[in-house]
Amino acid sequence: MKFEHIQHPAPVPGATRAQAIADPGFGKVFTDHMVMIDYDEGEGWHNATLGPCEPIPLHPASSVLHYAQEIFEGLKAYKLADGTMALFRPEANAKRFNESAKRLAMPELPEDVFIEAVKQVVKKDADWFPGVEGGSLYIRPFMFANEHFLGVRPATKYKFIVILSPAGNYFKSGAPAVSVWISEYTRAAPGGTGAAKCGGNYAASLVPTGEAFAKGHDQTVFLDAAEHKWVEELGGMNLFFVFDDGRVITPPLGGTILPGITRDSIITLAREQGLDVAEEMYSIDQWREDAQSGKLVETFACGTAAVVTAVGKVAGRDGEFTIGSGGPGQLTTTIRDKLVGIQRGTVEDTHGWVMKL
Ligand code: PLP
Ligand code: COI
Repeated sequence: MKFEHIQHPAPVPGATRAQAIADPGFGKVFTDHMVMIDYDEGEGWHNATLGPCEPIPLHPASSVLHYAQEIFEGLKAYKLADGTMALFRPEANAKRFNESAKRLAMPELPEDVFIEAVKQVVKKDADWFPGVEGGSLYIRPFMFANEHFLGVRPATKYKFIVILSPAGNYFKSGAPAVSVWISEYTRAAPGGTGAAKCGGNYAASLVPTGEAFAKGHDQTVFLDAAEHKWVEELGGMNLFFVFDDGRVITPPLGGTILPGITRDSIITLAREQGLDVAEEMYSIDQWREDAQSGKLVETFACGTAAVVTAVGKVAGRDGEFTIGSGGPGQLTTTIRDKLVGIQRGTVEDTHGWVMKL
């Protein structure tokens, strides 16, 4: 697909940019450019542009504003040791984007177009790469329905956009371990949209997340909808449990949790290290019991934004418990170092996960 380049009339001045990217935190700073591609039922995908990142006019009847037909992805561009930039498994994001599109009755975007769009905007705004240790360019591709129509049916018009946000740590102060709150609310039910990366799942997670924050925790743990017993995932991350005999388990992908690309990478890396990794249901009662008996030695959360972060404390209506020492355990640290090393080119990439730009 050919991208029309639209000149930015007033890019952010260098000094202002330098200040913005010195310590950007997560999701607050946006770069100068974005990619936008339109979809029309008759024409298919067309009108691809690389232009200024700016507000877009929306008709008040745009169906996304009423029925939330919206999906997104999250991936990062990293700087390698030699100064070049690289993406981590962007094909996996392109594939998952299309799985989400299918679930939300939206058109699929060819994987090569998804990847080309990401590459174009990252190359254009390469000088927005943050200066902070561990920094990256967080990439947010998304698609929404923008037909003006109030009937409830799949729309016939969509927009695909890619924006960039220079990112440091997701959790404030790069916390060594986070504290999580077990929600009474349900995130996703069997047959629902839990495995899709759609805005609606996150909207449903905001009350429980607000509750978690108000009680001083960093994330929400969601349990299964039917029995409210099995641990599924956090509001924006997957979970792993590590036992004293070296066994590792992570909840299985049953359609109610997001199939994380970090999760998949960690399963591969841990198995290569000789660990026994099972995709197995794990109950909240067992989690508490194993943590208290010392059988469970680590729990960590993983995702693009959060990378690999130890869970130190778990709290809920029935009280709270601490995992291990309350800080990052051994596997959490080694698996994080290995993953980050591959992403940043200091550890050999034997899987072809790193795509240089
Ligand atoms: N689970 C949820 C609900 C998420 O939002 C994310 C983040 O994208 C993840 C898991 C982890 O997915 P990934 O590793 O692909 O970023
Ligand atoms: C990501 O990790 O990319 C996500 O979308 C999760 C969200 C917490 C920012």
